Amino acid sequence: MNTALELKQITKRFGATEILRGVDLTIRQGERHALIGPNGAGKSTLFDLIAGRTQPTSGHIALNGVDVTGAPAHRLGRKGLARSFQTTSVFTGLTVHDNVRCAVLGSRAATWRDRWVRSGVIDQEAQRVIEAIGLAERRDELATSLSYAELRALDLGLALATGASVLLLDEPTAGMNRAEAARALALIRETTQGRTLLIVEHDMEAVFALADRISVLVQGRVIATGTPAEIAANTAVRTAYLGETP
Ligand SMILES: Nc1ncnc2c1ncn2[C@@H]1O[C@H](COP(=O)(O)OP(=O)(O)OP(=O)(O)O)[C@@H](O)[C@H]1O
Ligand SMILES: [Mg+2]
Repeated sequence: MNTALELKQITKRFGATEILRGVDLTIRQGERHALIGPNGAGKSTLFDLIAGRTQPTSGHIALNGVDVTGAPAHRLGRKGLARSFQTTSVFTGLTVHDNVRCAVLGSRAATWRDRWVRSGVIDQEAQRVIEAIGLAERRDELATSLSYAELRALDLGLALATGASVLLLDEPTAGMNRAEAARALALIRETTQGRTLLIVEHDMEAVFALADRISVLVQGRVIATGTPAEIAANTAVRTAYLGETP
């Protein structure tokens, strides 16, 4: 099976503090992979490195077999990586449709002429994404009028609209009630079909239902990677993270 993301011996230091201490992680193409671990383990720091927001202190990152260590976020975006950023990537003064259209435009149409010629196709693609994220009835509403859960769905839509093959979602259900979170996770399951997903999520029930494989990060180290069943049965994980005494 081909590898979508490969991290080798990644370390990250902030000043004297080593946050990531030699992370090895392999994400296969087309798998849904969850990254779990206690607060402060370094999950978001790792996402920042993968997404090109910050640089590793040492180590290597490959995307679809190509070394991208140190590549900036916009270059990774062109290579098919998208990261969902809570609500910050949504233009609140634009409608749902215009937000999604912008994301499609930004990734598919290279020139202004291209944009004009392909306008119909771009509209169709935007509509397809809006339907997939369940916001068809809110299509012409300003993003400011959306509920929190709808905003997060729109944010997922923006990542999907870029056509990215590898999606990074950091706590996509944070701040939602149980019903909203369940809907959001069902949406993520449906819309990421055929793509590679790396997700950080604290709801263990959701993680075990969604992920093909799970990696556990504790104090800056991956202590286990495996199927949900393997992780649930792993003594080191149960002790270090799931809070059980051996
Ligand atoms: N820019 C920074 N400068 C210094 N320390 C930082 C910086 N960013 C993160 N840290 C520290 O790195 C550690 C890991 O933080 P990180 O946000 O990656 O954890 P996390 O696993 O995502 O936690 P959570 O589950 O709470 O989101 C924390 O101790 C945090 O204080
Ligand atoms: Mg975090």
